[in-house]
Amino acid sequence: MTHHDDTSLTTEVEDTDVPAGFTDPGVADHEPRQADVDPKADRRAEWQVAAMFGISIIGTVIALVGYFTSDLDGSVASVRSANLWIGLGIALAMAGIGFGAIHWARTMMRDHEMVEERHELRSSDETRAAAIQNLKDGAADSGLGVEKFGGVRRRGLLKGSLITALAIAPLSLLVPQIANMGGDWDISKFAHTLWTRGTRLARDPEGTPIKASDVTIGSVFHVIPENLYESEHWIEEKAKAVVLLLRLKPEDLNIQPGREDWSFDGIIAYSKICTHVGCPVALYEQQTHHLLCPCHQSTFDVANGARVVFGPAKRPLPQLPIAVDDEGYIVAQDDFAEPVGPSYWERLTHIENEEA
Ligand code: FES
Repeated sequence: MTHHDDTSLTTEVEDTDVPAGFTDPGVADHEPRQADVDPKADRRAEWQVAAMFGISIIGTVIALVGYFTSDLDGSVASVRSANLWIGLGIALAMAGIGFGAIHWARTMMRDHEMVEERHELRSSDETRAAAIQNLKDGAADSGLGVEKFGGVRRRGLLKGSLITALAIAPLSLLVPQIANMGGDWDISKFAHTLWTRGTRLARDPEGTPIKASDVTIGSVFHVIPENLYESEHWIEEKAKAVVLLLRLKPEDLNIQPGREDWSFDGIIAYSKICTHVGCPVALYEQQTHHLLCPCHQSTFDVANGARVVFGPAKRPLPQLPIAVDDEGYIVAQDDFAEPVGPSYWERLTHIENEEA
């Protein structure tokens, strides 16, 4: 980057093709900004920038207060309220710093004209040295400790408000993470779902029950328990209870030992929660009977107990034992026989305790 005075700029323009009879007006006269000529305007701009950094500080406080005072009782309304205040706070915190920095640059940093010349990508040693010098100039141009109005203005207010805003802004993101570490995790919540004996399998999200006659060979249904929306914490329950219901030709289905009565005439149900890290498994390839998880490509063989045939998942998808009731609707025989979703450290202990 090279600094030019007005004379050199004019010379460069004169060298270009200028149509005959056209008078090059040259570079317009430099107009100083108000803050450069009026101490009051300079002071006003300084307060405006500080006010924006102040808004950032307030935003961080709002996010933290929103996090700690939200009564997260599991209802959708409480989650929405907490998200509103935390989101609003973070937005103010980031916007305050951003707008403050822009206003600072526009009103108080040194106002001189510059030309950035094209050059080869590879920097010469001189250019590198010049770049370092530019950085130093930039630091000098920031307006902190600038010589103005017959003295050095230290801008302690700006420095203090910017440092405070930058220092506390990460708290709105970090504190919730830290506060959640070592939290009150009730691991037993992961071990059971809403499925119980006789619960009808229903379409997601309508909640209409599914008849065995609706499930044609090759079709896939995204399924929830029929009574899901009666649950106070239905969002959390849905995250655990979602199921994929498929129908294969009975002769293609390799029924696993001990599960002889868990399916009905080729209709079979598996948990939709990937056993890797819990994405919804939703891509079904009818010809190969493979279910693919879109997150990391774990692939499960539906015809063979949903065992893993590819990818990072380590366990088959848990199977939901199903039957058909008197009216022809598909119902669960019971809950899953094992916890759904990713493995976690107390999972085995929990199964052992349940079996004991
Ligand atoms: S979450 Fe399914 S493969 Fe990773």
